[in-house]
Amino acid sequence: MLKVEEQQAPVEFSPELISKFDEIVSRYPVGKQKSALLPILHLVQAEFGWVSVPAMDKVAAYLKIQDIEVYEVASFYSMYFLRPQGKYVLEVCRTGPCCLVGAEKIMDHIEQQLGVKEGEVTADGLFSWRGVECLAACGYAPVLQIAPEYTFYENLTNESVDNLIADLKRKGNN
Ligand code: FES
Repeated sequence: MLKVEEQQAPVEFSPELISKFDEIVSRYPVGKQKSALLPILHLVQAEFGWVSVPAMDKVAAYLKIQDIEVYEVASFYSMYFLRPQGKYVLEVCRTGPCCLVGAEKIMDHIEQQLGVKEGEVTADGLFSWRGVECLAACGYAPVLQIAPEYTFYENLTNESVDNLIADLKRKGNN
């Protein structure tokens, strides 16, 4: 569980980041700046690795909207991380067709191999994993994607998962 201090740690948006926000807002009619919320949240996540409450509050202030308007969007879409994640987030499809061909066993295997439960981060900071809804590759089940670059791995087996984890470990923080 994330400590309150971590959840509430203040964040600063650099002038470079703000100018990226400005560019996105300029694509929309005056007064419709809320339309820029999704891409701005993606920029915040790319910068900090996740989207904390103080970061969401700052986005709300920047866009001149209510804090709750940012929370409800960020908590609706699973692509936004509301807590810190590993560098590689293994997202395993847990919807019906993938479960029929072993997605749950794949998740058990990942948990065992990484030694962390769903949503936790490995001690080296490299990995997190979680179950997600259909990744639209049902014909190649079971499948996973690795956030934040969203590369796909299909027809998973325990062995292919082990190879993938080993490759990512070799890659490390590079
Ligand atoms: Fe797994 Fe669709 S059910 S990709």
